[in-house]
Amino acid sequence: MTDTSAQRADWTGAAAPGTIRVWDPLVRFFHWGLVLAFATAWLSADEVQPLHEVAGYTVAGLIGFRLVWGVAGRRYARFSQFLRGPATTLAYVRDMLGGRERRYLGHNPAGAVMVAALIVTLAGTAFTGWLMEKPERLAMLPALPQIVTPALADDDGDDGERGGEALEALHETLANLMLLLVALHVGGVVLASFRHRENLVLAMVTGVKRAPGPGDIA
Ligand code: HEM
Ligand code: HEM
Repeated sequence: MTDTSAQRADWTGAAAPGTIRVWDPLVRFFHWGLVLAFATAWLSADEVQPLHEVAGYTVAGLIGFRLVWGVAGRRYARFSQFLRGPATTLAYVRDMLGGRERRYLGHNPAGAVMVAALIVTLAGTAFTGWLMEKPERLAMLPALPQIVTPALADDDGDDGERGGEALEALHETLANLMLLLVALHVGGVVLASFRHRENLVLAMVTGVKRAPGPGDIA
């Protein structure tokens, strides 16, 4: 099946017969840029601090771009296209466990939850890193959650030091949580690739996927 006029209207680039363009160039650039920046931030942590910070800010910039593109971007980039409610997501997971889940052209409901988790956790990691950089940044944020501790506003004395340690611990915990999420994310991608007999990693490189068949959700 070739692409429908509605899908063509979303993205005008031609795709080979039987295939359809799904991931636009900016989503792909975002994805692989994020992988590179995250890996750099992770590997340079506690080793090469200036590189760590540049990589961390690059992650933050990419996330900022993605938030805008998720509202103003093309069809399959939009959050409204792939974020679904709990009922649909649970039904999808049930179908997955029963081995009868349908193929989604964009992110499937479970994958969409993971995309949201990755974006939120990355934003939190970059934000806590930025906060850690200069104590006065905390003073600009009076409504900080208790987990960061109010003592952080006080830079001198033991309280401030303890607060700084708590913030660093939070930064590291979020970064470690990212490793777990990335492992689950890649596992999910591999599983879905086998289940639907299509190379999703290649699709994130080329932007192209198999055109929707009967029963698929486009
Ligand atoms: C080499 C390892 C990785 C591979 C092979 C991979 C592959 C993919 C694929 C195939 C998708 C599309 C999923 C779908 O078809 O629904 C995707 C989406 C995504 N991945 Fe990865 N990924 C990798 C690492 C990462 C890492 C390290 C991060 C975060 C730091 C990440 C964050 C994301 C996000 C946020 C999306 C959603 C893309 C969007 O809609 O903008 N990925 N990934
Ligand atoms: C989102 C991407 C980021 C990731 C994955 C990340 C990851 C990490 C990790 C794992 C550590 C712990 C290193 C260790 O002590 O073993 C760390 C420490 C640190 N990070 Fe980040 N970080 C990110 C962004 C940032 C940003 C944007 C900044 C500030 C501009 C920053 C500043 C710091 C600082 C100051 C430390 C403490 C280094 C030390 O131990 O002296 N990070 N980061």
